[in-house]
Amino acid sequence: MSYNTYDCIDAGTENCPCYLALTGDCLICSRLQGKDCCDCNWRGVCIYNEFVQGNRKVSNPRIEFEAKILEKKFYLDDLVIFILDVGKGFAIKASHPGSYVFLRGRQSSHFYDLPISVMRADVEQGTIHVAVKIIALKTKALLEEPDRFILRGVYRNGIQGVGALRPEKTKEKKILFIAKGIGVAPAILAANALRFRNKVDFVLDTEKISTELISDYLGEKGNHDVKEMKEENGIIGELGVIKYLTLNNEQDRRDLVRLLKKENYDCVGVLASDYFVDTIGALVRRTLPEVKLANSNNFRICCGEGICGACSFVNEEGDTIRMCKCQRRE
Ligand SMILES: Cc1cc2nc3c(=O)[nH]c(=O)nc-3n(C[C@H](O)[C@H](O)[C@H](O)COP(=O)(O)OP(=O)(O)OC[C@H]3O[C@@H](n4cnc5c(N)ncnc54)[C@H](O)[C@@H]3O)c2cc1C
Ligand code: FES
Repeated sequence: MSYNTYDCIDAGTENCPCYLALTGDCLICSRLQGKDCCDCNWRGVCIYNEFVQGNRKVSNPRIEFEAKILEKKFYLDDLVIFILDVGKGFAIKASHPGSYVFLRGRQSSHFYDLPISVMRADVEQGTIHVAVKIIALKTKALLEEPDRFILRGVYRNGIQGVGALRPEKTKEKKILFIAKGIGVAPAILAANALRFRNKVDFVLDTEKISTELISDYLGEKGNHDVKEMKEENGIIGELGVIKYLTLNNEQDRRDLVRLLKKENYDCVGVLASDYFVDTIGALVRRTLPEVKLANSNNFRICCGEGICGACSFVNEEGDTIRMCKCQRRE
């Protein structure tokens, strides 16, 4: 593990130490990697000490449970929202930017588990809202489930650079989310977590997504300044501009650059496919060199626990980096 390049998203949380500690593969702790000295860069509670004190067990392993489908609404033929009963405690944990869960139908095997972002966590109701784009096997299988999903979570690494979006560390900042397609789901969750103490704007490309969904979850339609969100949508507080642009269109990209220069954002989240994360991310960086950038974690994620290796790549130093757990260090 490249200590100076990546952090572990679960380090120091209720899910740490995790399965990787059991086999001497902790991403952070040199003792839990089999070394006889402590030379980690971790500045939180000592992971090794927690492991020993906790009888060398995984702390709070994420356990599957059945979540009742309270509501299912189609916005497009291939875009459906599920409202799931998860309980208040789970909803609180799921309210942080970057949260996602694994879902499958009760008749499906583990092979059908798929990662889905939390779009809204309603703590009062003990529910989460998820938006699913129906593509192929796993997402089609979800549609077959009439009553309850098997759910596992909460997982935290849905956004790379999520540190810049931590509500407790973000005050009176100007934040812009640029989202395309199903990327609007994590953008909506993050915006809700941040809107009370910051100004949050949106640039949305609604290709493959429905403006009705945006209206239901962000309160208004169209290109305009939104001064206040609608309370009946469970969203109160100030949001700034919601602008609809086509991210592939040159003129619209010029509009985006104008907006970036005018508002001089502190943080920009690009929540879209890798193509747009790269191209729009580079445009944002060119326009605002000092900006903090966050983006969707688009790696193939299968276990979310750093075990299966589906999300891993080998970096220049030859280390295997597991992107379901790793956060690049800023
Ligand atoms: C952290 C995270 C959050 C996500 N949030 C949402 C969401 O809120 N709504 C939503 O509709 N989709 C979301 N996805 C993507 C979703 O998991 C995939 O679209 C889904 O697994 C596709 O399964 P399929 O069998 O229907 O299609 P497939 O034909 O298997 O795949 C279709 C596309 O999805 C990609 N994909 C397949 N499996 C995975 C996987 N395990 N991890 C990542 N990408 C995969 C494929 O590479 C391909 O590009 C998220 C993915 C990740 C990693
Ligand atoms: S998804 Fe299994 S190791 Fe990352």
